[in-house]
Amino acid sequence: MQENLSRLTGDILNYLHFLKDEGVRSLPCAAGGGRDWPAPGGPGRSRAPTRAADAACPKPRPAPRAASAQDSSNALLEIAGRVAACERCALHKTRTRTVPGQGHPAPDILFVGEGPGEDEDLQGLAFVGEAGKLLTRMIEAMGYGREEVFIANIVKCRPPHNRKPEPGESAQCLPFLEEQISALKPRVIVTLGGTALEALLKVSGITRARGQWLEYKGIPVMPTFHPSYLLRVPTAKRDVWNDLQAVLGRLGRAVPTPANK
Ligand code: URA
Repeated sequence: MQENLSRLTGDILNYLHFLKDEGVRSLPCAAGGGRDWPAPGGPGRSRAPTRAADAACPKPRPAPRAASAQDSSNALLEIAGRVAACERCALHKTRTRTVPGQGHPAPDILFVGEGPGEDEDLQGLAFVGEAGKLLTRMIEAMGYGREEVFIANIVKCRPPHNRKPEPGESAQCLPFLEEQISALKPRVIVTLGGTALEALLKVSGITRARGQWLEYKGIPVMPTFHPSYLLRVPTAKRDVWNDLQAVLGRLGRAVPTPANK
């Protein structure tokens, strides 16, 4: 009996290690057998209160996409390597560092901006300056952390003096973003500002397009204003928040409120 029990325990531990290696980070806490587990006190006493167990059990998250997350990480690293060596356009001559983009390799949401500014050029990371701080607050208001989404740009090198990327520069750089999108397989793409919308979807006029669902290769795209624009025109934050709530709706996620945060 004792021997069987320790073999069973060993098997369960091995299985849990296997699941962990596969990227599984949580298990349903009230599923199947757990629900029928006898209540403390033995047979004849009432069973564990299922409602209470359900209440204590966190809401199910989407199944982890472990295998594809690993493949995606590898692909993203490989793309970043090619970005670092890229000399396709003149922007490489004035860059300090390339900014391939960063975040979760299998995210719900991919945010796409225009191109790196000074802070991003120095750090090699997307959206880390003032506009980036606002983007972080937008992401957190949606109930995500920055590390749970992916943040990228149309061009991976800083245009001098923060000018807009020229159409030729965007066109040369776009294949990198397209490759990133096919690795990431985001559930939704949010384009930030007119340049991202125009380069990715060939749609011009952010003011008219924002808030309307579009599509990129079968992936829903929500165009919204760029955080830099919001720093200049804070009253536009209301429109952007509406757009981000539509994104949450599309993902089947509740809009965080102080009560459910
Ligand atoms: N603006 C962008 O479009 N991208 C960044 O990474 C930073 C500012």
